Amino acid sequence: MKDFKRTLVTAALPYANGGVHIGHLAGVYVPADIYVRYLRLQGRPALFVCGSDEHGVPITIRARKEGITPQQVVDRYHRIIKDSFAEFGISFDIYSRTTSETHHRTASEFFRTLYDKGEFVEQESEQYYDEEAKTFLADRYITGECPHCHNPKAYGDQCEKCGRDLSPTELINPESAISGSRPVLKKTKHWFLPLDKHQEWLSKWILEDHKEWRSNVYGQCKSWLDMELRPRAVTRDLDWGIPVPAPGAEGKVLYVWFDAPIGYISNTRELLPDTWETWWKSDDTRLVHFIGKDNIVFHCIVFPAMLKAEGSYILPDNVPSNEFLNLEDDKISTSRGWAVWLDEYLKELPGKQDVLRYVLTANAPETKDNNFTWRDFQARNNNELVAVYGNFVNRALVLTHKYYDGRVPALGELTEADKQVISEFQGVKAEVERLIEGFRFRDALKEAMNLARIGNKYLADSEPWKVVKTDPERVKTILNLSLQLVANLSIAFEPFLPFSSKKLRDMLGMEKAEWHRLGTTDLLAAGTQLGTPELLFEKIEDCVVEAQVQKLLDMKAKNEAAAWKPDPVKPDIAFEDFEKLDIRTAVVTACEKVKKADKLLCFTLDDGSDTPRTIVSGIAQHYQPEELVGKTVCFIANLPPRKLRGIESQGMILSAQAHDGALSVITTERETHPGSTVG
Ligand code: MF3
Ligand code: ZN
Repeated sequence: MKDFKRTLVTAALPYANGGVHIGHLAGVYVPADIYVRYLRLQGRPALFVCGSDEHGVPITIRARKEGITPQQVVDRYHRIIKDSFAEFGISFDIYSRTTSETHHRTASEFFRTLYDKGEFVEQESEQYYDEEAKTFLADRYITGECPHCHNPKAYGDQCEKCGRDLSPTELINPESAISGSRPVLKKTKHWFLPLDKHQEWLSKWILEDHKEWRSNVYGQCKSWLDMELRPRAVTRDLDWGIPVPAPGAEGKVLYVWFDAPIGYISNTRELLPDTWETWWKSDDTRLVHFIGKDNIVFHCIVFPAMLKAEGSYILPDNVPSNEFLNLEDDKISTSRGWAVWLDEYLKELPGKQDVLRYVLTANAPETKDNNFTWRDFQARNNNELVAVYGNFVNRALVLTHKYYDGRVPALGELTEADKQVISEFQGVKAEVERLIEGFRFRDALKEAMNLARIGNKYLADSEPWKVVKTDPERVKTILNLSLQLVANLSIAFEPFLPFSSKKLRDMLGMEKAEWHRLGTTDLLAAGTQLGTPELLFEKIEDCVVEAQVQKLLDMKAKNEAAAWKPDPVKPDIAFEDFEKLDIRTAVVTACEKVKKADKLLCFTLDDGSDTPRTIVSGIAQHYQPEELVGKTVCFIANLPPRKLRGIESQGMILSAQAHDGALSVITTERETHPGSTVG
């Protein structure tokens, strides 16, 4: 492997049109942060760069919907996103934004360099134009009938009903989402990056020289490279973005996927105006992009092609992309509100940043999609963080306070068991390093947790609370070793759980975490005064996670209600057919459950005649029988009698069905005499 002098780590720039949720954190930001913290702990030069991605059509759509400007949209979300990351300890060296002056300048220069070198091809094409709004329409802004499934509300890029990719000109009866008018085709010119010209070196570079990339990343690249790459437009007709610096490009901006990755460069430049080029243009810099799987092609194919075309930049050495995280067995969806938002998590579970970092890493979607559930969150907190890590730390500290007033006792003679434990935890450092270097963070975390398990077992086996009565000298050694282990934990967990590591170091009076001392037994000098033991983690009660699950279910119910539409009206009938129906009112005189049938209630009705009428109705899951006694209901009187569970049912009681399936019996608005006709 190459000898790199420094590592430049980037994390995908999140779109500033919404907050960040646990999927983002698990997929990109926590792993990137673990990696950078680890490099820094080792004293290796590293830079961690990110920022908000503030251009693109969705931001303009949101602005239009809310009646505000795109700038107001990105200002709002940039703040929220930046704060959430800071609260979760994502330790960027810079978190800037693509509306910054530096970025506009850098992206513009970048385009211009490629333009001057003749790296683009210009092409004219016909695109839909809204004559009322006087603007070209992005594919998403055009709706119409899908030519395949005839869904009347398909989008210009995709039909959400049948899932097919579309181009706007395929739509039947296209309509502009801005003005509602029918768009017309109009000629427009755009600049394309001819990926076909880059295909050869890209194939060699990835498929031959980077076989070590994660198999999901390598596989996706391979399937792209096995096809013929096509030129990609890098400009758009839009009024939000970076103006295209070329003659004849009035009213055009850089495509968001062209400018956003340049944001990594701009943000480095903003932070280090004099030395940024060392990070981007020297061969001994290692560039690593952390991204989610929907970003693979842009980071492995398009952006490298841009960098190569420019000519003076390095290419990424690795692109550790994660798969997706699901939530409670369902795809995370911003539009459906099926997500756990970081700002809400912080309000509802204050101080529990490390718990989420832990759960998301322990369950990270590194090789396949994974599922987050609140039950698993609770179990990992209670059974691992509290019962293993927290418990071991607490026992070691409390015993030291009890026997030695909180002073680290001196190490005595070592037994075989002691030596065994020491050799076990000496091995952890190399193993954690190997795993982190290989971007295997969940296994690395397991290894750190294993250190706590070793400690717990050591305490349980050596039983200092018993030995203290017979051999107090021996207890000194047991506790010294246990405390050394505790100190080791504060180092091993530092990349993963920075908040609790810091808290632990404060209790131990350790100034900093020194990675090179991980695995040693002299982290705490004998005689060191320890602080008051505090719990590192607290048990999470059922009601806390139940409330979170309920919140999600409420959201789902709300969405279903919003998405509900009444059934289409049935074909017309003749008035005489309607007149044949005999609908009447009746008073419920008795109502009871039908035995062995969980859906049925048996009604006895006073229908104004001399004999009571019996009707069996399938609404037992919506009413308690006694609620209905005394109510005036409506029923159809002239249906042929039917036997249900051995009871003869003489008609049908009318009820309305709500969007969620709940039934509601139809009653009369005023008192009516039983047997009154309804019509
Ligand atoms: N905003 C994009 C997304 O959320 C990611 C942009 S990454 C960058 O999918 F490289 F373009 F910056
Ligand atoms: Zn369709």
